[in-house]
Amino acid sequence: MDLFDKLENRNSPLGPFTSEGYGYYTFPKLEGPLGPEMIFNGKDVIVWSINDYLGIGANPKVRKFDIEATEKYSLSAPMGARLLTGNSDEHEALERELADFVHKPEALLLNYGYQGIMSVIHCLVDRNDFLIYDELSHACIVDGKQLAMSDTSVFKHNDIESLERQLKRATGRMKPNSSILVVTEGVFGMTGDLGKLKEIVALKKKYDFRLLVDDAHGLGTLGKDGSGTGTELGCQDGIDIYFGTFAKSVALIGAFVATKPRVKEFLIANARSQVFAKSLPLPIVATARKRIRLIRENPQWREKLWENALKLREGLRNIGYNVLPSESPVTPVLTEGSTELCTTIMRELREKHGVFVSGVAYPVVPKGMVLIRLIPMASHTEEHIETTLNAFEAIKPIVFQNVDEGVTA
Ligand SMILES: Cc1ncc(COP(=O)(O)O)c(C=O)c1O
Repeated sequence: MDLFDKLENRNSPLGPFTSEGYGYYTFPKLEGPLGPEMIFNGKDVIVWSINDYLGIGANPKVRKFDIEATEKYSLSAPMGARLLTGNSDEHEALERELADFVHKPEALLLNYGYQGIMSVIHCLVDRNDFLIYDELSHACIVDGKQLAMSDTSVFKHNDIESLERQLKRATGRMKPNSSILVVTEGVFGMTGDLGKLKEIVALKKKYDFRLLVDDAHGLGTLGKDGSGTGTELGCQDGIDIYFGTFAKSVALIGAFVATKPRVKEFLIANARSQVFAKSLPLPIVATARKRIRLIRENPQWREKLWENALKLREGLRNIGYNVLPSESPVTPVLTEGSTELCTTIMRELREKHGVFVSGVAYPVVPKGMVLIRLIPMASHTEEHIETTLNAFEAIKPIVFQNVDEGVTA
């Protein structure tokens, strides 16, 4: 059968949303300058769906710097993979600054976080090794597992006893040249809870393993200096490989891992998605340096982000919504209902109240549940929060129509 003909009958996991919902539920276009107020389908909306946590993407100083850096370097340079012709002083300086920021001896830039972390996992463990990861890990970790030749197992989400069972199992089967890599996240992006990093690090006293933490949502938002979840929980030293992406708080593209010099040296030569791919363009690297510096110099952005997050969730709880106990700025609202309710909530908020949120239903959350995720930013104002709370108040009859007790608080 022709491969393309076969695709006619093969549905994507998003089902009709990829075709009928295109441009609205999937692939919506948020237009106008980046920020908490943007344009969707020709209308002004307050946006709670982008990860520019610190509002840095819209910062006028940053925008000016980006233009200057592009003029100076061009978006084309450097050409080639870093291993061959794509390295520069800027790339190396950014790595030093990132390492310093997250309190690690070395950092290695990655072109994209997703491919980068996949390759890191792939090249670190081989068929003699054991890879153990949290069941709610991001798709990039799961895909890294698919590439790895090692024995892989999952532990129940944030369940230390479950992790310990897997560690015991792996330890019992180790050959002399076997090693164990445990992978989890700093902040779980859909639910906002933190990985139990301190407890996992404590297990190192009993078991011999290395820990890789994907801190995509923690970098810039957590820790007294913004250096992420490990610092927040007081166990950054116990993280052997710290992963951060520029795709959230830095509002850019690119990522990095921070680790020991020998590990970096190994990754430079072995992380295939980096060895065989063009390096990050110079203006991106230069603006990443600028943005990291600004994040470090402006802790008040992080404070404002948290103030906004706490106000938003308190307001949502006060009007009867079930906000999951997030420990990060991610604000997840859970309610009972079908996929249809999920799309109705999104449409009502967007069309009638000018509030843009994203939601997910089964299979991302259990059947019969709807999760609306709001991402506060430092750049949201009191007015944005108030308008949004009023909108959530107004849609309550729709949200709670099938819930016997009125609200699911
Ligand atoms: C937890 C997590 N890890 C990794 C990634 C991938 O990073 P990037 O967007 O830099 O490819 C994302 C999404 O950005 C993420 O949310």
